[in-house]
Amino acid sequence: MSKPLTIADLKILARRRVPKMFFDYADSGAWTESTYRANEDDFAKIKLRQRVLVDMTNRTLETTMIGEKAMMPVALAPTGMTGMQHADGEMLAAKAAEEFGVPFTLSTMSICSIEDVASVTSKPFWFQLYVMKDRGFVERLIGRAKAAKCSALVVTADLQILGQRHKDLRNGLAAPPKWTLKSFMQLATRPQWCLEMLGTKRREFGNIVGHASNVSDLSSLGAWTAEQFDPKLSWDDIRWIKDLWGGKLIIKGILDEEDARAAADTGADAIIVSNHGGRQLDGAPSSISMLPKIVDAVGDRIEVHVDGGIRSGQDVLKAVALGARGTYIGRPFLYGLGAMGKDGVTAALDIIRNELDITMALCGKRDIQTVDRSILANVPF
Ligand SMILES: Cc1cc2nc3c(=O)[nH]c(=O)nc-3n(C[C@H](O)[C@H](O)[C@H](O)COP(=O)(O)O)c2cc1C
Repeated sequence: MSKPLTIADLKILARRRVPKMFFDYADSGAWTESTYRANEDDFAKIKLRQRVLVDMTNRTLETTMIGEKAMMPVALAPTGMTGMQHADGEMLAAKAAEEFGVPFTLSTMSICSIEDVASVTSKPFWFQLYVMKDRGFVERLIGRAKAAKCSALVVTADLQILGQRHKDLRNGLAAPPKWTLKSFMQLATRPQWCLEMLGTKRREFGNIVGHASNVSDLSSLGAWTAEQFDPKLSWDDIRWIKDLWGGKLIIKGILDEEDARAAADTGADAIIVSNHGGRQLDGAPSSISMLPKIVDAVGDRIEVHVDGGIRSGQDVLKAVALGARGTYIGRPFLYGLGAMGKDGVTAALDIIRNELDITMALCGKRDIQTVDRSILANVPF
């Protein structure tokens, strides 16, 4: 393939390069994947207002998210096992984001650890927290994020228990992969990936293995989540975490107006309207369809961000028009990473920036901060 021009091009390249079990891990949703599909499809239902003969020179996409400068209103979403899309994946993606000037969020379930990412970046990144039953471990994790000078904590609220993703179960997903005939075949057909993976020592959950009590070897995400994720997590726990952390706090996984109000009541700095990329409650509405209602409910009290289904700069512009201060991309950067490592993450960001810039201009706007619902021809939700 010649130079990738769209996120879909990067997805094709990633599929060719990444072993099936890890490509599928990224490209999957819960159960029937209806919410995963809706996240993407609902963006196409929103139409833009074409404007002509207005000055389109000197455009800027620069903005802030929770007060931090961003070159465009796009951050990299926290994604587990990113170091299995490409060797040292989290370190590469963090470096690409830093050079580009957008926030990077490291997942609790990353392969590279907080300290690994801090060792290759010079600006603060954001850390995403899963709240485990072992509160001592949570305290230590927060302490490590502080020591690494992370500038925001993103607490994920929509994964108290793990949604079932059929592909992962069928593939026997594990990190590092378990040796079965099936996994051997999947790896044998991706020699480049294997070579790169042999060149790194980072092949396990770097934030957990060797740090959580009694965890010296953790291979199954399912087993760990079943055992350690806390089904009793409550708003009181969020307040406890907020006090413990003491810095900027973002609550991720809000899809309901009532929950949005409760999140605003905690005094957090932002919420992310999200259904975990369609990976948790299948049958939930798309993120973008819930965004206008949530902005109406709490937009004057808390910064509202959104993720889920963003595959282009047009999608980013539509989200901003509907009131999102910032957006996050998950799969788009994972496909870039799987396809071409760090250059692929930069390519994904470049593709989105270019589309966002041109689309904004053709809608008659020059400054992303002036974009509002007036650029939309319709809002179907
Ligand atoms: C492979 C994969 C792993 C993910 N792991 C996490 C995670 O560890 N923590 C988290 O809060 N969200 C996780 N998410 C959800 C993303 O942060 C984000 O909500 C979602 O990817 C956005 O949808 P998009 O992929 O369509 O952009 C993951 C998503 C994917 C695709």
